[in-house]
Amino acid sequence: MTTPTPAPVYVRTPAHGFLNSLSVDRVLARYDLAGSIAHAEMLGHVGILSASEVETLRGGLRRIARELAQGSFDWREDLEDVHTNMEVRLTELVGSVGGKIHSARSRNDQVALDERLFLRAAIHSVAQRTHELASKLLERARQEIETPMAGYTHLQRAQPVTLAHHLLAHFWRLQRDVDRLLATAARSNVSPLGAGALAGSTLPIEPDRVARRLGFDHPFENSLDAVSDRDAFVELAFDLALLSVHLSSMGEELVLWASTEFGYLRASPGLGSGSSLMPQKRNPDVAELVRGKAGRTIGDLLALLVTLKGLPLAYNRDLQEDKAPVLDALSTTEATLAALNSIVPDLQFERERMRETATDPALRATDAAEHLVRHGVPFREAHDRVAAHIAAHGGRFDRPEGGAGLEPGLSAAAWTFDPSDPLADRLSPGGPAPVAVRRQIELADARMRIAQSSLSSLGRLTGLIEELLQEEPK
Ligand code: ARG
Repeated sequence: MTTPTPAPVYVRTPAHGFLNSLSVDRVLARYDLAGSIAHAEMLGHVGILSASEVETLRGGLRRIARELAQGSFDWREDLEDVHTNMEVRLTELVGSVGGKIHSARSRNDQVALDERLFLRAAIHSVAQRTHELASKLLERARQEIETPMAGYTHLQRAQPVTLAHHLLAHFWRLQRDVDRLLATAARSNVSPLGAGALAGSTLPIEPDRVARRLGFDHPFENSLDAVSDRDAFVELAFDLALLSVHLSSMGEELVLWASTEFGYLRASPGLGSGSSLMPQKRNPDVAELVRGKAGRTIGDLLALLVTLKGLPLAYNRDLQEDKAPVLDALSTTEATLAALNSIVPDLQFERERMRETATDPALRATDAAEHLVRHGVPFREAHDRVAAHIAAHGGRFDRPEGGAGLEPGLSAAAWTFDPSDPLADRLSPGGPAPVAVRRQIELADARMRIAQSSLSSLGRLTGLIEELLQEEPK
């Protein structure tokens, strides 16, 4: 009886096409190579590879990085995934020593490592674009501190605000999105390499050395957890889903504002195209699609969570399905951010129309009640008195001068307001009045500086990987 020879990792099975993940995981190639360099160096340090073997492997891996960058790398679709493609090419380039690179390593910890490195770079890129959009909103807000407009609740005109204040509300959402993405990057900056297939190795490996070389804060604590943990991907998918929801809300407002009914936004060419049928129409297609894209990213988050639900420890092949949703969410969000980054600087607001809605006396009904409160009337009673006044005037609050008919008891302290300045006495902190908005902008500027410095630190970590892949001058 002969013992069957074990199949090499790149053997073709009948279900080869089904198992193949190359169409999705090839984006990991550069991270795979960087991880292999750090791994080879560590193997050299602990004496499993000689110094010259490390040199040979590093040279081969960097050469592959160059082939990838130049577009000359010959991807082999018959090989199952990015990892086998890299390893087979390495062996072609450096010979049998290439077979040593996989000592004390499994594709299970390898793919987890690649994903962590990829995630860091992806977060840097998407957070940067989000930061850029936030800064564009902030710039627009600076120009609109004195532009009053109606503020809404339930999509009904409610109280006066300013356009700057409204734009800044979107700014703060994005600012939290940037923070959230950076926190995800920070929390997931842990190296899984050295976990092996699930149970580490009998070889004297030093996961800590690999972690430091790749800019991670520390290596994994538990090998079973390390190969099955996809929390970082889930967090990123959530961050992107919420970011898309914020962008979608912005898109929806642009759609509303561009309508004849609102009239807050001029139909500029950047916002969309004409109708193929109706010559008079201009549709806010860009804003609509911004709104529509959120459906995809929310779906991506769900797809990932459902894939993970119920998996036993440790690695299971289901985990291969983790990449497509995250990649889709990333490209969708990046495209959405790019579209908004291009239109926000050119939005043409109809300031006069906004001012007109802000000076509607009805928006001051609450202020009239607050005026009564200032004179000692309990708020509940003040609310009722103003409501009764409105009911007595056919549902309108349109004669507020001289106490607004809110007697008795107020003739001496008649409430007046200047309709041309609907925000004059709305001075509470964090509110819409110009003086409060100026303070808000100072806070926003300070937060932008902090975010910029965190983005730069993350940029240095992603740069580290590129440095590792640089070939040494001959
Ligand atoms: N393509 C696989 C993935 O993305 C790589 C790990 C494969 N591991 C294995 N034991 N077959 O998850």
